[in-house]
Amino acid sequence: MFVGVNALSRTLIRAPVARTFTSSAFVSMAKVSEQEAPKKKTQKFKIYRWNPEKPEVKPYMQEYNVDMTDVKPMILDALIKIKDDMDSTLTFRRSCREGICGSCAMNIEGQNHLACITETNLSKDEILIYPLPHLYMVKDLVPDLNYFYKQYTSIEPWLQRKDFPENKEILQSPKERDALDGLYECILCACCSTSCPSYWWNQDLYLGPAVLMQAYRWMVDSRDQFSAQRSTIFQNGMSLYRCHVIMNCTQTCPKGLNPGLAIAKLKHIVEAN
Ligand code: SF4
Ligand code: F3S
Ligand code: FES
Repeated sequence: MFVGVNALSRTLIRAPVARTFTSSAFVSMAKVSEQEAPKKKTQKFKIYRWNPEKPEVKPYMQEYNVDMTDVKPMILDALIKIKDDMDSTLTFRRSCREGICGSCAMNIEGQNHLACITETNLSKDEILIYPLPHLYMVKDLVPDLNYFYKQYTSIEPWLQRKDFPENKEILQSPKERDALDGLYECILCACCSTSCPSYWWNQDLYLGPAVLMQAYRWMVDSRDQFSAQRSTIFQNGMSLYRCHVIMNCTQTCPKGLNPGLAIAKLKHIVEAN
């Protein structure tokens, strides 16, 4: 546990105002702070590696013992430390480093997370990091998301109307706007889809929770006039109805959204159309 000068200062600030310190008290406090100064702390990471340029080498887990003393608290900070100071060949995606872009999605200690908003648990002996599961790979922690984006395109995720009034906004009531809350915040990180067993086994035909939630988002948008037409791509046993309400998607979403519920509501709309 790190107990350093800052912790000591907080204790001093909370001390009664009338209390005074003798010089010997300051000397002994300096000794305490010296004894409790942060020690060098290393954390072991085991990280999935695979390089398509060396097909003869099978995927393996590489071990890194990282000096964490000057590393900020998130998993992404540790990965950047490894890449900068230890092994520049380690490959991963990242951009915003604040949970907005979705590019640092990966499997950390058995669950899909965004590395930039997941704290490094220093009490662990070792931390296991894999790419998002059940996807083709580009390299190391970088999955191939082309098919995922193709599926997203298939639901035509844009406003569709018979007419667009010229030079005029299409207004919504506050209630109509509220219907989009919990849906528009999705950053398409794919954590949910790649945690879904139905998506693992039927990815070619089942659209998966991320894409289905966005399909629902456009169907409940009061400005969109193509809900009935949008329903037609779900009139089969696979694209929507392969959801068996397993709910891993909702449990794993790093933005706290509920794609499982959105899919249940989407089924109601499709059945009504
Ligand atoms: Fe990521 Fe959540 Fe959107 Fe799924 S619903 S893509 S987990 S933000
Ligand atoms: Fe999969 Fe979520 Fe449905 S985990 S089966 S999409 S409720
Ligand atoms: Fe953008 Fe993590 S770097 S979500």
